[in-house]
Amino acid sequence: MTELSAPPHQTELRASGAPALRRAAELLRAGDLVAFATETVYGLGADATRDSAVAKIFAAKNRPTFNPLISHVADLETAEELVIFDARSRAIAEAFWPGPLTLVLPRRINSPVSLLCSAGLDSLAVRLPAKASAREMLRAFGGPVAAPSANRSGRVSPTTAAHVLEELTGRVALIVDDGPCAVGLESTVLSLVGEHPVLLRPGGLANEVLEEKLGRRLAQARADAPLASPGMLSSHYAPRLPVRLNVARPRADDAYLAFGPVSAAQRRALAALPAEAQWNLSPTGQLEEAAAQLFAALRRLDLPNRHSLAVAPIPEVGLGQAINDRLRRAAAPRG
Ligand code: TXA
Ligand code: MG
Repeated sequence: MTELSAPPHQTELRASGAPALRRAAELLRAGDLVAFATETVYGLGADATRDSAVAKIFAAKNRPTFNPLISHVADLETAEELVIFDARSRAIAEAFWPGPLTLVLPRRINSPVSLLCSAGLDSLAVRLPAKASAREMLRAFGGPVAAPSANRSGRVSPTTAAHVLEELTGRVALIVDDGPCAVGLESTVLSLVGEHPVLLRPGGLANEVLEEKLGRRLAQARADAPLASPGMLSSHYAPRLPVRLNVARPRADDAYLAFGPVSAAQRRALAALPAEAQWNLSPTGQLEEAAAQLFAALRRLDLPNRHSLAVAPIPEVGLGQAINDRLRRAAAPRG
């Protein structure tokens, strides 16, 4: 794909607070890009109703335009103006919003959101984030904000303002720093367009919790399903180092991402690695803690003097499913 040219910007970095959030709303109204914290990852926001503003997101990220965007809203009423809810989707929204869940629903014919956000589909993704500063910004702006994760397309999602600076300096007008993201994985994306709910992306809300509320097992979108969730390209979240999964004992030239209590055999293997080349996502084996650490750890361990990044096995339950999904993409052959 050819690199779209993004106009150069002075990137402002401000600590979150009323003045920064007011400034963010003002820039959004002017059609500029603003990076902001949510409970999942940092988003790269633009006025979702303005084609020219939404187009800047694709240019800044070098994101393929067939990949649709999530519209972020301050309340359920705003979401109702964009998409069509029925009893089932309203019950799901009421149960899990605000929070790390994105709903894909039929677009309203008169939806004010730019068609670029739907990327040719007749659905639209909507999300009501839980992070207080994000909601304050959305309220101050007064409309839907289109926002993908604030990274270059194909790279690891940012969970701190410093990560956003690494990714998008010169490509975004303002970064509002509101500390590290508590969840650390992107939202779960659930399609309620058809008769049966379909999980398009595992994420910050565990599948089991959703299934409990839906009263049924969730169908998982097949990775090769045409346009099901176009963002789920198989190679994504890619560090520069090649990634090896389910490695119980690292080699001496690896960087190692551990999880849970370390065995005696592992301890001996780890003794051969420099301290900066190892990181434990959660020494006590807690998946929530591991999720919150994952993307920062992938960045930190992507060291030029290592041959590969080896990752310990992570249980495929709860948030472990979303963690393993991201790790499989990080390890996928590079396109
Ligand atoms: O946690 C999150 O969801 C973050 C924060 C910033 O809210 N956003 C985020 O956006 O992860 P993005 O663009 O990086 O991922 C959105 C995913 C992509 O896989 C995209 O293809 C899918 O949602 N998506 C968006 N609209 C869709 C639609 N109408 N139908 C199917 N999939 C859709
Ligand atoms: Mg993303």
